[in-house]
Amino acid sequence: MRWGVIATGGIAEVVTGDMLRVPDVEVLAVSSRRIDRAREFAERHGIPRPYGDHHELLADPDVEVVYVATPHAQHHEVARDALLAGKHVLCEKAFTLTVADAEDLVALARDRGLFLMEAMWTRFNPLVRELGALVADGTIGDVRTVHADFGFVADYDARARLWNPAMGGGSLLDLGVYPVSFAHLLLGEPSVVHAHGSLAPSGVDAEIGLLLGYPGGAHALLSASLVTAPAVRATVVGTMGRVEVHDPFFRPEAITVHRTGEEPRTRTVALDGAGYTYQIQEVVDRVRAGDVESPRMPHADTVAVMRTMTRALDALGVTFPRP
Ligand SMILES: NC(=O)c1ccc[n+]([C@@H]2O[C@H](COP(=O)([O-])OP(=O)(O)OC[C@H]3O[C@@H](n4cnc5c(N)ncnc54)[C@H](OP(=O)(O)O)[C@@H]3O)[C@@H](O)[C@H]2O)c1
Repeated sequence: MRWGVIATGGIAEVVTGDMLRVPDVEVLAVSSRRIDRAREFAERHGIPRPYGDHHELLADPDVEVVYVATPHAQHHEVARDALLAGKHVLCEKAFTLTVADAEDLVALARDRGLFLMEAMWTRFNPLVRELGALVADGTIGDVRTVHADFGFVADYDARARLWNPAMGGGSLLDLGVYPVSFAHLLLGEPSVVHAHGSLAPSGVDAEIGLLLGYPGGAHALLSASLVTAPAVRATVVGTMGRVEVHDPFFRPEAITVHRTGEEPRTRTVALDGAGYTYQIQEVVDRVRAGDVESPRMPHADTVAVMRTMTRALDALGVTFPRP
């Protein structure tokens, strides 16, 4: 399957390395806003076709799937261009800046019969799959609470991607999307969203704490931060035990199952590559099968996660300029 990579930043570098580990994946093309950067990237990864504009890459009839690795604020425009050019799309998280933009991409992909997926790689991690299976078979009883935190200290720079509203900056869309998507995976979309946090001078959220509420009292307690470094762990608590997802929970290599009355059991895995190969394989399999979405990261979940994050950002008064 012939892939094109759009953007040459930090994550494009790492994910491209993992793509090349997946059987039957050829990275045929890369685009950058600057041709010299595209050429350097292409040389590093052995990619035959560098382009100086993403429209040129999308006009290449041999590219079947594109990986969108621009800042969040550019995801909608670039992914839209790709779908209009007839390409299947894997788009980085946070998927878009608004619910309407996420819905727009989903509608377009479905209309064109093209595969589209948010690159929420955590859902394809082998231990997160195992966690899902053991929750589904009742090992820890009825799930009542999910805890998850993701933060690190990032030097403040109003122009940098993490802090810049024009690039969709802030802790929630960049880091908090992991705890929010994790809670959605286990509990679904919340009926109640409470959020509290602080804003950076640029107006984006520097830190945010969330309480998500579900009918019947189940809840999730989540946080994201660019000003503190919590343990990046998750715990799924049920009526008959709990599962601890070790740090970093977004790419775990260990989980510990504590079942009431039993000795704890720890399961470990050595991840393939940097941990992104599983989601790449999913795209390959789903595109081959002619599917428009992945059952593990379905369109409805991507849109629901955007809805929850938007409710939280609205509570803090965070707004983004239209790109
Ligand atoms: N899945 C993960 O583990 C993970 C990890 C980190 C980030 N991400 C996500 O990946 C996306 C990119 O993050 P990153 O850390 O790679 O960011 P980055 O290092 O700043 O790279 C972003 C790249 O996007 C391109 N770009 C296109 N339009 C741009 C614009 N208007 N302003 C700035 N850059 C623009 C640039 O490449 P060119 O100069 O070549 O055009 C730039 O190098 C974000 O959505 C982020 O949330 C995911």
